[in-house]
Amino acid sequence: MNSDFLNYQAQTTPHPLGMEVSHAEGSFIFTKDGNRHLDFVAGVSACGLGHRHPKVIEAIKKQLDKYMHVMVYGEYIQTPAVEFTKLLAKHLPESLSQTYLVNSGTEAIDGAMKLARRATGRSQIIAARNCYHGNSYGALSLMDYEERIAPFRPLVGDITHIQFNQETCLDVITKNTAAVILETIQGGAGFIMPTHNYLKKVKQRCDEVGALLILDEIQPGFGRTGKLFGFEHFEVVPDILVIGKAMASGLPVGAFTASKALMSLLSDKPKLGHITTFGGNPVIAAACQATLEVLTTSKIIEGVEKKEKLFRELLQHELISEIRGKGLMLAPMLQSEDIANHLVLQAKEKGLILFWLLYEKKAVRISPPLTISEEEIALGCGIIIDILNDYDKLTTTE
Ligand SMILES: Cc1ncc(COP(=O)(O)O)c(C=O)c1O
Repeated sequence: MNSDFLNYQAQTTPHPLGMEVSHAEGSFIFTKDGNRHLDFVAGVSACGLGHRHPKVIEAIKKQLDKYMHVMVYGEYIQTPAVEFTKLLAKHLPESLSQTYLVNSGTEAIDGAMKLARRATGRSQIIAARNCYHGNSYGALSLMDYEERIAPFRPLVGDITHIQFNQETCLDVITKNTAAVILETIQGGAGFIMPTHNYLKKVKQRCDEVGALLILDEIQPGFGRTGKLFGFEHFEVVPDILVIGKAMASGLPVGAFTASKALMSLLSDKPKLGHITTFGGNPVIAAACQATLEVLTTSKIIEGVEKKEKLFRELLQHELISEIRGKGLMLAPMLQSEDIANHLVLQAKEKGLILFWLLYEKKAVRISPPLTISEEEIALGCGIIIDILNDYDKLTTTE
């Protein structure tokens, strides 16, 4: 592995995948060793339109020729941010009309937590067990993964955990609760879908006690589940929607959206309730605008369901016990953690990019670009099945 990468760039794990990237296009990443890799991960759901979508590149280049950073968020009128937030409002329910643009998903989560506390005057925030909302202190404090949080205490206070999908926990939500924050589909936990109108029931309970429902759509948002936003499947509208990842097709971004009345609380008592230098950056906002225009004027989102079906048909194997998730956010569950590891690492050798999930070690992540073709899906699934067949042979001859 490139020693400068290991020596100079701070690391997140002792064993990074370490592919040295040359360039990327559509559904493929090309490495400096001359190999191409079919991308079934899309930068962990961030490249919904694939790599270097021409409309996004065009919008970025156009904006680069006009201006980049000119002022901190919220002072000057910068057309890309205005046009993007206006277009987003057009595609969201009326109550989600104002968007605060920030730099990452985790910052958007922190902003949503602050807004909920400011709006309700309450401090308790309820999150789900095995949630993942990011790594800044606010978002990290929502986690209940002891090994990951223990060295960083003290965390942000007054966080309570409930079991996702368990209705008996709903009476934990009371008049002391500022907000309940949930991933619409739990990601790191293993692509867990809400069942039995769970989200609707949580929203009802929140309404009863005056708490806010925050939905984290950072991963399911922007078409990944076959609708523009995941919550559209579940007859629920959150009070605060948190988005990011695929929103700018591969540039760093996050945002939280709420009603104008709610959002106004961040500019009053205190004013400057949340501020950021680069949030709403014009180049990134131009990429967001182009991404949303492509998604809402093409058949890409409509095509997601058919592609999901194809994955499910092609990934039938005795070592796969089930395939969790929705749309192009799919997690085949292997019989063991070892098989899941073997699959991810062998796939890398055979030119297919797969990845792990944060908590569910038997799962393998499949979150390809939404633009992936049926031929590419067949190619990648063929590699997966070959690896699993070989694994079968390996273990039966042992
Ligand atoms: C559901 C969810 N929330 C929040 C985040 C944090 O986003 P970011 O890494 O942009 O801070 C992620 C990132 O993986 C995520 O999947």
